[in-house]
Amino acid sequence: MNKIGKDAINQAHNNAGNDHLPGLYVHWPYCVSKCPYCDFNSHVRQVFDERQYVEAICSEIDYLISLQGGRTDSKPLLGSIFFGGGTPSLMQPQTVGALLDFIRSRFSLALDVEITLEANPSSVEAARFAALGEVGINRVSLGVQALHDEALKVLGRAHGVEEALAAIAIAQQSFARSSFDLIYGRHGQQLAQWREELKRGIDLSNGHLSLYQLTIEEGTQYKNLYDRGELNLPSDDRSVRFFEETRKICDAAGLYAYEISNYAAPGQQSRHNLVYWRYGTYMGVGPGAHGRIEQGGNRLATAAIRSPKRWMGQVLELGHGFESMDKLSRGEMADETLLMGLRLTQGIDLASLRTLCGLGVRPQKIDELVSAGLCEMSANDEFLRASDRGICVLNQIVGQLSSALEPV
Ligand SMILES: C[S@@+](CC[C@H](N)C(=O)[O-])C[C@H]1O[C@@H](n2cnc3c(N)ncnc32)[C@H](O)[C@@H]1O
Ligand code: SF4
Repeated sequence: MNKIGKDAINQAHNNAGNDHLPGLYVHWPYCVSKCPYCDFNSHVRQVFDERQYVEAICSEIDYLISLQGGRTDSKPLLGSIFFGGGTPSLMQPQTVGALLDFIRSRFSLALDVEITLEANPSSVEAARFAALGEVGINRVSLGVQALHDEALKVLGRAHGVEEALAAIAIAQQSFARSSFDLIYGRHGQQLAQWREELKRGIDLSNGHLSLYQLTIEEGTQYKNLYDRGELNLPSDDRSVRFFEETRKICDAAGLYAYEISNYAAPGQQSRHNLVYWRYGTYMGVGPGAHGRIEQGGNRLATAAIRSPKRWMGQVLELGHGFESMDKLSRGEMADETLLMGLRLTQGIDLASLRTLCGLGVRPQKIDELVSAGLCEMSANDEFLRASDRGICVLNQIVGQLSSALEPV
């Protein structure tokens, strides 16, 4: 895509809504089964006490409010809420309702607040969608992963294509906005097959798709299979082809890449995820959740205990399950801004980097990366972004920019 094209798309994408307001992330750590490729903080457990979970989450939210200055006459404003997992669609709708009632008692929700819940496309969960819509969920993100039964088996998924199609249809009836995830670059997958699958996915979609290239994560069953040579995955060069084709096909269909793995029609981006990528403020509660909050002019990185059992134990004892709460230095904030922001097609706002961190990138380094064809400046010279070529070597670019930071 050329430079003018990207600027026009960013312009259209800019009016997503509340992505400048703080967000709240709530982690639900359980799944029906563990998928062999997944390293998310998700655990298989048949019985859990949802009432106790609600109480623990409420207690953590109150703890974070007290850390940020306590309750005042005016409630703090939230632009987005995200129930992630694990598989939060396993929660009873009344559990989600109880959490949302509590959140409304503590925060003012923006008029167009985005309230997303991640869901697995099984029939049991799809049957709950209408009730989840009634308690306030207005966006769902479905983990479809593949549109072939054989591929779903290899991915160890607990659902088939029929169920996924039914769940997509029910989600689109039940929620104002919906998205689904597909994984590509899978075992044995050919580019021609992916093109067809992606086009089918686009036809089924409703303004947003998350398209993840399969990654092999430490500690997963896939890692063992991969190490034993039992997974047939695309080479690095082929992976780049998969990525480029994915962008091209989505672009032609009006679903623009606004982030490495996320594609949306204008205005349909995930506002909550934009808060992360634009390095905004967000609270994270529940086992393993991360947050970035403001306290007395400082930015704190919070991380909760990953193990649900140990997390619950500490919440019962101390009122929260956080295991670290670190004040970030200006350099750390700048590194995080670069790491998150360069994932966006829009790139990073250089003025915000200077204001937030008191640091800027040495102009010679920017010129060097632009001359090498790895970065581009937006037409108004406000945003620095990775080029189509640069996006494939993002870590390298982040490293170079980070080592060229200087006080402003
Ligand atoms: C927390 S999970 C989604 C929710 C839900 N539990 C599900 O699986 O349907 C987030 C998404 O990350 C993606 N994902 C997880 N592990 C991945 C991996 N190793 N490679 C690529 N994508 C992955 C999947 O598409 C998944 O839907
Ligand atoms: S991919 Fe989703 S369903 Fe599978 S283990 Fe991970 S969080 Fe659970």
